[in-house]
Amino acid sequence: MILTGAGISAASGLRTFRGKDGVWEEYDVEEFGHVNRLQDNPGRVWELFGPLRAESKAAAPNTAHAVLAEVERRLHATQLFVLITQNFDGLHQRAGSKNVIELHGTSHRTRCSNPDCDLEPFIDENPHTDAVPLCPMCDHALRPDIVLFGERIPALQSWESKRALRDCDLFISIGTSGTVAPASNFVRSAEYAGARTIYVNLDPMESRNPAYKEEYLGKAEEVLCKLFGVET
Ligand code: OAD
Repeated sequence: MILTGAGISAASGLRTFRGKDGVWEEYDVEEFGHVNRLQDNPGRVWELFGPLRAESKAAAPNTAHAVLAEVERRLHATQLFVLITQNFDGLHQRAGSKNVIELHGTSHRTRCSNPDCDLEPFIDENPHTDAVPLCPMCDHALRPDIVLFGERIPALQSWESKRALRDCDLFISIGTSGTVAPASNFVRSAEYAGARTIYVNLDPMESRNPAYKEEYLGKAEEVLCKLFGVET
């Protein structure tokens, strides 16, 4: 089981959220990324996530994404590979990964902000930075299909993650700061299941999480090639 965060897409030119030049250094989380903005100022949500949608569409998967896709391809029929990503950029799928759980949704889909509306979420690459798009069925604001702060992880993704963690014998986190729950707690569940637990990141953990038994520091796009012995 692999858990990825924004760091794996850094070599594709996408910004991480925390740290120097991070998205949350420029944009206030409450003002742009909180679910409450859908009620009082949905334009703020598009102001942040519209350009991120355009950037992820323009980006290409990098070596780290390619290595994970190759590892999945090489597995035996008896082995199960699950890639849980907090990223909404779609780069794992574009690199060829198949069994991907998008924990925080995807920036390439739009849906209605009204929970009672029947509009099906739809693929949409328009960044909607000029005007807030409105639902053709109920006239509420449309929104990117991304999990905002203050929202729960969708039930299906939450259930699939728990199931994967229960059966997991190898857990590798890659390029995530481990600050956002529930993903930040996954390593403890994996440890409880008896898995080998590995941390891959550019930087050491800010406060050491004892559930990780191994640590490989460096750029994901370099570390993963060595770790899996895969050339792409
Ligand atoms: P963060 O921005 O919090 O953390 C990115 C991590 O990637 C940091 O620990 C960096 O040290 C590491 N990193 C940077 N470049 C790297 C590289 N080339 N190789 C390996 N590691 C590298 O991103 P996440 O942990 O993904 O949610 O953040 C979790 C969630 O918080 C995101 O999904 C996002 C955010 O708010 C939403 O917006 C819904």
